[in-house]
Amino acid sequence: MASDIGTSASHGILSDELRDDREQLVELLTRAYWMEIETVMSYIANSINPDGVRAQEIIESLDQDVQEELGHARQFGQRIKELYGVVPGSLDFQAEQSYLQPPDHQTDIVHVIKGVIEAESGAIEHYNRVIEFCEGRDPVTQDMVIAILRDEEGHRRLFEGFLREYKAEGLA
Ligand SMILES: [Fe+2]
Ligand SMILES: [Fe+2]
Repeated sequence: MASDIGTSASHGILSDELRDDREQLVELLTRAYWMEIETVMSYIANSINPDGVRAQEIIESLDQDVQEELGHARQFGQRIKELYGVVPGSLDFQAEQSYLQPPDHQTDIVHVIKGVIEAESGAIEHYNRVIEFCEGRDPVTQDMVIAILRDEEGHRRLFEGFLREYKAEGLA
């Protein structure tokens, strides 16, 4: 959603000339914002539900990730505003993370690990798209999303490592 504030920039992504690009970028950032918000919800649930000795490592990682993903959501929201967009309200939210719903058994850690890897992969894919869109248009957003992309690559790598351990034992 674009707000009706007129811009005072003469060039760059904030100029009137690039209004169409800016609006497309706000849409991409709004999608990113919702992805982060849903990830926060999913990671909160999956940092509480798991049972078992081996669940503790996952719980601790997800606890920390909740804070990071929340920070990402805030950054996307801020950038939406700076680009003269409006951060959407909760009624616009549509859930997509079917793969991160609670498993049938709360000791099913592999389900959680695979779900996290899928969520992170989705974010990585979308953020690469945003970075590409920003090329030659908006270096500031590009910079911000590159930093966030690195966080997501780190999250995915960590959970790939967890999965590797289960695979080595024939449990995944
Ligand atoms: Fe994130
Ligand atoms: Fe992440």
